[in-house]
Amino acid sequence: MFMKIFLQKTILFSCALIAMGGTVRADEGMWVPLLLQRNQAQMQRLGLQLTADDIYSINHSSLKDAVVIFGGGCTGEVVSDQGLVLTNHHCGFSYIQYHSSVEHDYLTNGFWAATMDEELPCPGLAVRFLKEMRDVTHSMLDGIDARYTENQRRDSIQARGKRLSEAFSQEGKTEVKVVPFYYGNQYYMFIYEVFTDVRLVGAPPSNIGKFGGDTDNWMWPRHTGDFSVFRIYAGKDNTPAPYSPDNKPYKPLRYLKIDLRGYEEGDFTFVFGYPGRTQEYLSSFGVRQILEQEDPMRIAARTARLEVIKAAMEKDPAVRIQYAAKAAGIANGWKKWIGEVKGIQRLNVIGSKQDYEKIFEDWTQSLNGEPYAGVLPALKKAYEEMAVCQTEAIVFQEHILAPEAVGFAYSFKKLCRVSKGEETGMKLEEALAECERKAEKFFKDYNAEVDRAIFERMIFQTHADGSFTQVIDFPDKNVGKAMETFYGKSLFTDPDRLRSFLNRYNAASYKEIEKDPLFKYADEVYGRYLHAVRPLVLQCQKQIDSLQRLYMKGQMALTESGDFATVMRVGLKPVGPLRNVGSEQLYPDANFTLRVAYGKVAGFSPADAVYYRPYTTIEGIMEKEDPGIYDYVVEDRLKELYANKDYGRYANALGEMPVAFVGTNHTTGGNSGSPVLNGEGNLIGINFDRCWEGTMSDIRYDSEMCRNIMLDIRYCLFIIDKFAGATRLVEEMDIIE
Ligand code: ARG
Ligand code: ASP
Repeated sequence: MFMKIFLQKTILFSCALIAMGGTVRADEGMWVPLLLQRNQAQMQRLGLQLTADDIYSINHSSLKDAVVIFGGGCTGEVVSDQGLVLTNHHCGFSYIQYHSSVEHDYLTNGFWAATMDEELPCPGLAVRFLKEMRDVTHSMLDGIDARYTENQRRDSIQARGKRLSEAFSQEGKTEVKVVPFYYGNQYYMFIYEVFTDVRLVGAPPSNIGKFGGDTDNWMWPRHTGDFSVFRIYAGKDNTPAPYSPDNKPYKPLRYLKIDLRGYEEGDFTFVFGYPGRTQEYLSSFGVRQILEQEDPMRIAARTARLEVIKAAMEKDPAVRIQYAAKAAGIANGWKKWIGEVKGIQRLNVIGSKQDYEKIFEDWTQSLNGEPYAGVLPALKKAYEEMAVCQTEAIVFQEHILAPEAVGFAYSFKKLCRVSKGEETGMKLEEALAECERKAEKFFKDYNAEVDRAIFERMIFQTHADGSFTQVIDFPDKNVGKAMETFYGKSLFTDPDRLRSFLNRYNAASYKEIEKDPLFKYADEVYGRYLHAVRPLVLQCQKQIDSLQRLYMKGQMALTESGDFATVMRVGLKPVGPLRNVGSEQLYPDANFTLRVAYGKVAGFSPADAVYYRPYTTIEGIMEKEDPGIYDYVVEDRLKELYANKDYGRYANALGEMPVAFVGTNHTTGGNSGSPVLNGEGNLIGINFDRCWEGTMSDIRYDSEMCRNIMLDIRYCLFIIDKFAGATRLVEEMDIIE
């Protein structure tokens, strides 16, 4: 019935497509490898010389067998038949830090294992290979009644997911995840092989791997040599095994060949990796919440916190080292959100979503009996309800927890519970030992004066906002006095006080913890958050999730309907989901599952009269050099290679040493470390960032302004080979010249 009504419009739609030059969309989208057949023709038209089956197959080795989840939130790729893995420096950072000490400062000086025996085990690090993904939508959703309550639905889905995982996982070898797509309208199962013996092989000095630091982060032009090198080790039969000196380098099903022939502007590229999270299908209300509430609150809080930390880091070199990683983490989100807000405003995302919503509502009118009518007003209401508790949740995360001693003090609640016999799963000695380890780790990178300054700053700032007082009354209403007690007397702000307390700890000592002023404060704020704020947030979130699932289903149905004429009738420029109307599929939002994003090498114009070329060279490193600024120090050895133009086979056709390049591949956090491949499927770069003007791509992609930033593989190999002399690693690789 629906088809008939829209038949005429469908004809119009085809004409419109032709008028738009066939709309080959070459950039937006993070596509599911299992379904890549659908993109194959387009990808080949754009320059891919492979088939979808060469990229993802479970019948024979394919490129997917060379791509791994690296650690908890990055991607990596295998580049030799001996399990050598490349990822970003910022992805390997914590493992490089773990092995660093004053005597062996690998962060500063870099690290290169001269032989396999020198490669360093990294406890806690795992890589995961995807063996197979399957559409399990039927097993997960069949028979789930639309009349189920959200709780019934959730329970049923959890039980089904668990059954599937159990049926397919092998203890200690594979791991199975069942993941919702399209907000729970589809489900896929992922079977991973997990290797836990992964060793650090090499890392450049930080002034190469982090060159430009936070100043250049999220920015183009970029000159960061953001890579590090690891190796996967396997047990007998080349299968996963816990660390053992007897393990052997893993023989992969597939490794990537490295192409030194470079690229030209306009060349086809694809990024194969694990994008973490995008939200392209939100309603205008959802975007408004991010634009007007979430981002501004978080930005303001972090601006204040960073001011305090940066000032302290500048004054004291010890603090600079202690707070470097923390500051980088805080600044990373902060800078991204600032770019995101600007991008959402510039593209008028709310306005165009509202236009789309009008079309959506018109369309639902034409479908009598379909369930989508009313979903948008309901979403609007749900976001209004969410706004109130969301404010408090953000205050808690960004303000209350900003002084680290608060969370640290609260973490001793477990020790109290064990001491009181309220938690029987753990012995007192174990709990105590855990606290001792935690304390040692905490105080290593902690400065009480800095923490106190953060506390004071955040409290006053929140008072000025008027929001903090809604959350909790501050003890005595006297900040100065409270600070004196927290930082002058509490157990949790001084390593010696805490150590001597833990040394004389007995089962009755928990009373001292419970009397500690900072612990009391922490317990109160956490109590308020966990028992009053968070349940409300979860409640609101559940409602939004369920409505968003329905809205997503509607958006997919509208897309499949091919009702492009409605769009043309209201004279809209197709944006967001509308761009894909009639193209029969919407790509699912990122959810940290393997995806293919494809586009081309392309410069861009971020501002009036400004044009950015798509690649940088070592010239830019020398231009940026400033021995007085930590982020811009250049190694003598690099200067020497530069002075002699000693680039070997890694120079480009013009004799330049390329460093980084940008393209239109649609990527997000998690794609860091992802392989960047050319039309032949060979490695030409390592993804590591996006340009600042395009960070709204998590919400709305814009091919004019969104660029992913990639390390040129030639610079990576130049550093390994020429700079560090770790030629044995390059010899393992399969290199095309
Ligand atoms: N912006 C990149 C990403 O989101 C790199 C972050 C690490 N670098 C830094 N300076 N904080 O992961
Ligand atoms: N830098 C990000 C990452 O670490 C990538 C991005 O957000 O584009 O995954």
